[in-house]
Amino acid sequence: MGDIAQDEASFYSKAEGYWKEVPPTVEGMLGGYGSISSIDINGSKAFLQKFLCEGEGKTGTNCALDCGAGIGRITKRLLLPLFRTVDLVDVTQEFLDKAKNYLGGESKRVGNYFCSGLQDFVPECGRYDVIWIQWVIGHLTDNHLVDFLRRCQKALRPNGLIIIKDNVSYEGVVPDEVDSSVCRDLEIVRSLVSRAGLGIIHEEQQMNFPTEIYQVHTLALR
Ligand SMILES: C[S@@+](CC[C@H](N)C(=O)[O-])C[C@H]1O[C@@H](n2cnc3c(N)ncnc32)[C@H](O)[C@@H]1O
Repeated sequence: MGDIAQDEASFYSKAEGYWKEVPPTVEGMLGGYGSISSIDINGSKAFLQKFLCEGEGKTGTNCALDCGAGIGRITKRLLLPLFRTVDLVDVTQEFLDKAKNYLGGESKRVGNYFCSGLQDFVPECGRYDVIWIQWVIGHLTDNHLVDFLRRCQKALRPNGLIIIKDNVSYEGVVPDEVDSSVCRDLEIVRSLVSRAGLGIIHEEQQMNFPTEIYQVHTLALR
């Protein structure tokens, strides 16, 4: 990410400016691909349930953290139905404001709405069974992503899991000047995960997405 890391401040401020202009809707969260939301959530549910249902060593269902949560699309349909409490963190205050309405009555089980960039966010030690990080890692520099993942590891409860679900490029790092992000290939993502001292427990490709978008992979880490 050489060039981008050199101009880190504008990498982050451009992204913040971009998201401030995006409508607080599912369509806005998914860059115009609102129609894939159900396929995405169903795939995530099948992925996650493998770890919540196994006998010994199963992951708990007390508390989850939705990172880069936006309006709470994932919190509403994946995390609140599975966990007693969910916290949301996002850099865009307008999305968190919208989440309170969007989540409806179930929003009473939201513990915290944290408005912060993940590069600055310190999740509480030992609080979370699952930390879900979807479609946001491309907004962090390599070093910030590694440091954030290290902080996430400390924030896990016993048998807890960090899940990354994100676009992967065919090869190398592909910058997106529009939203000020990058898309990394799978080897690069794996190497950043390893730099953070995390192991990959399970990995899957999300199937049935439109062919014109990036491949999406889900990685379970601890
Ligand atoms: C593509 S949307 C995905 C939202 C949500 N994860 C979902 O799948 O519905 C990206 C989200 O990341 C947030 N975001 C962008 N840069 C961020 C950063 N540095 N830290 C935390 N959130 C960030 C945006 O405000 C936006 O809500």
